[in-house]
Amino acid sequence: MNKELVTYAYARRLAGMGASAIREILKVTERPEVISFAGGLPAPEVFPVEALARAHAAVFAEEGAQACQYSTTEGWWPLREWIAKRMVRRGITDGAPERVLVTSGSQQGIDLVAKIFLDPGDAVVVENPCYLAALQVFRGYEADVIAVEGDDEGMSVEGVERAIAGAPRPPKFIYVVSQFHNPKGTTLSAGRRQRLLEVARRHLVPIVEDDPYGELRYSGEPVAPLAALDEGGLVIYLSTFSKTLSPGMRVGWAHASEDVFGALVRAKQAADLHTNTIQQRAAARLLASFDFDAHVEHVKAVYGERRDVMLSALGEYFPPEARWTRPDGGLFLWVELPAAVSAEELFEEAIGERVAFVPGAPFFAGAPRRNFMRLNFSNSRPEAIREGVRRLGNLLKRPAVSTATAGPEHAPGRGLENHRPE
Ligand SMILES: Cc1ncc(COP(=O)(O)O)c(C=O)c1O
Repeated sequence: MNKELVTYAYARRLAGMGASAIREILKVTERPEVISFAGGLPAPEVFPVEALARAHAAVFAEEGAQACQYSTTEGWWPLREWIAKRMVRRGITDGAPERVLVTSGSQQGIDLVAKIFLDPGDAVVVENPCYLAALQVFRGYEADVIAVEGDDEGMSVEGVERAIAGAPRPPKFIYVVSQFHNPKGTTLSAGRRQRLLEVARRHLVPIVEDDPYGELRYSGEPVAPLAALDEGGLVIYLSTFSKTLSPGMRVGWAHASEDVFGALVRAKQAADLHTNTIQQRAAARLLASFDFDAHVEHVKAVYGERRDVMLSALGEYFPPEARWTRPDGGLFLWVELPAAVSAEELFEEAIGERVAFVPGAPFFAGAPRRNFMRLNFSNSRPEAIREGVRRLGNLLKRPAVSTATAGPEHAPGRGLENHRPE
């Protein structure tokens, strides 16, 4: 049969998943001559490659056959114990290894949570803009995504309360990237954390706290995760080794109350039986023999410098009408360009200048806004950051762009201050 004649009857949910705009963009930016602020990639030079190689060698030398075998869905016990201890250190004092589920990255945690809670038409509350691959998951389960606005202190709690009150049925959960948001880089403030928990408790709506970046703080005072403040067992906490050790390992975790934990385990069993046993054992060996704290400090020093360089280059090279967030950690900052600038058009021109970023439109859960861009600062060296920002700044200041942008219609977005040094 001629393959091209076959029309496949895909499930409806596939349309909801779309094609990840970022994956498409990353294909262009893989060219080595391009300075890329596009992906959410950690810096390859901070991966603990040798320590990981030693840990893998020890696994194969000392427990090779067991590591090659099937294992339990919940995960490798010594790794679950290490994770639980780390969570306790981050203030999540009820962190219990029995309720840690090792996942294939926190992305799988998002998928499993969606899988156990969402029927078609169920509502999920998210901050607008939102982590793209979470939107993709929620839409894939045919959920109605209710987008709540935010500012420099994270999502608006009043907005969440209004969203819950206005929904025909209570939303199934509130999805929050509580620290160093993707794409905005902002952190939910301490005051809002308490109020968000109160709202969740009052309406009995669980909170899914997605915290891949919590370890990576470069400035400001630490804020306790929502899971640390939760007294009602309403927070499902997701995190990962992707941004501290390596995303290629695909090892993350979910921590939840007993009931939700049981549901997640069943969902994971159906998805992939368990996370890669070899990686789990290697991660546990690495963490038992390696100074994780010193490693994280090193990563923070490298990324903190890159963030500072990007902020200062933005101040120097971007036009005065542009505004951007000032993240205290994580990998990204979020730029609001003058209202008349299309970040997608700018992207095409920027590729011509061998510099890339992610246009902001796909991150919006509702109507896309065209004049935003996400910039990643972790994956480029300081010199390249300055040069890339300079090239983008030159494009933005060209007469064709700046004439179009200098109109009085530009209203600064909430939560984006102009951090240009005077
Ligand atoms: C907010 C957020 N959640 C989850 C993930 C996925 O992380 P992992 O590699 O652990 O699947 C990312 C990765 O960029 C992210 O930004």
